[in-house]
Amino acid sequence: MQRSPKHILNNGASIDVLGFGVYKVPAEDCADLVSTALDTGYRTVDTAALYGNEEGVGAAVSRAVAAGTSREDIFVTSKVWNTDQGYDATLAAFDTSMDKLGLDYLDMYLIHWPCPEQDLFIPTYKALESLYHTGRVRAIGVSNFEESHLRQLLDACDVVPAVNQIELHPWLAQTELRALHAELGIATQAWSPLARGGILTDPVLLELAALHNRSVAQITLRWHVQSGHLVIPKASSEARIAENLAVFGFALTDTEMARIDALDRGLRSGSDPNKVN
Ligand SMILES: NC(=O)c1ccc[n+]([C@@H]2O[C@H](COP(=O)([O-])OP(=O)(O)OC[C@H]3O[C@@H](n4cnc5c(N)ncnc54)[C@H](OP(=O)(O)O)[C@@H]3O)[C@@H](O)[C@H]2O)c1
Repeated sequence: MQRSPKHILNNGASIDVLGFGVYKVPAEDCADLVSTALDTGYRTVDTAALYGNEEGVGAAVSRAVAAGTSREDIFVTSKVWNTDQGYDATLAAFDTSMDKLGLDYLDMYLIHWPCPEQDLFIPTYKALESLYHTGRVRAIGVSNFEESHLRQLLDACDVVPAVNQIELHPWLAQTELRALHAELGIATQAWSPLARGGILTDPVLLELAALHNRSVAQITLRWHVQSGHLVIPKASSEARIAENLAVFGFALTDTEMARIDALDRGLRSGSDPNKVN
């Protein structure tokens, strides 16, 4: 069975470098698809209240645990949605997510978007800190936070986010934000690591895929891993789920990494964090 190496977060919690994302996985398919991922060797799963499939993620985790996998070996992330920001609303949203997941504890809880116009991410994060201090969640962090949001958060809160989950792929390299994460001890987790599939036609990546006799998805995910990103590709078939995890048995050269680095064009496949509210 393939397995991802682990990464130790800034609070000592251990997460897989490469996990499985379930955005847009229909609720009715989610349990079976996550079970396929867990059977393939994935141990980290990324969901969110927004995705409407937390029940499926929880059911797959329960199945795996019933079949002998240690719960401690699985890492489940969920996220508080924008309409639930604020201290009390976030605590209530967490309870709702936990009811759906059916888990005793959550591995990581993130603020999904900063929503700067709402101006509620600080009380929202304080709710996450309280969940963290009571042990209901093992790590807390943020998603889609830009430098200004991170600085405001760090000025007002005590627990440095373990992760900032951001859109990141060869067409959107986020160089400055990643440097800030490194300085602050925050792990960078890449969402839409394949630019939602758009990156798979890039000519440079196609050339490198042919050279290495690997798929373009594997070349792209290998670039993420060698760049030090945590990564959570989503896929809908057993074959692609397995293919995406099989990136730990080869390496890109420095020159190849530099060629992929040079593909950055600041191109988002998702929303601008300053415009989501
Ligand atoms: N925090 C946030 O705001 C945020 C936003 C977006 C996403 N996310 C998280 O990040 C995860 C990944 O992002 P994403 O789902 O947007 O996009 P992604 O992982 O970049 O791309 C997924 C797309 O690529 C295709 N694909 C996957 N593996 C492939 C392969 N080996 N060969 C060919 N095509 C392949 C998938 O097709 P099939 O599904 O048809 O196989 C799907 O269309 C999400 O599931 C979610 O957990 C978080």
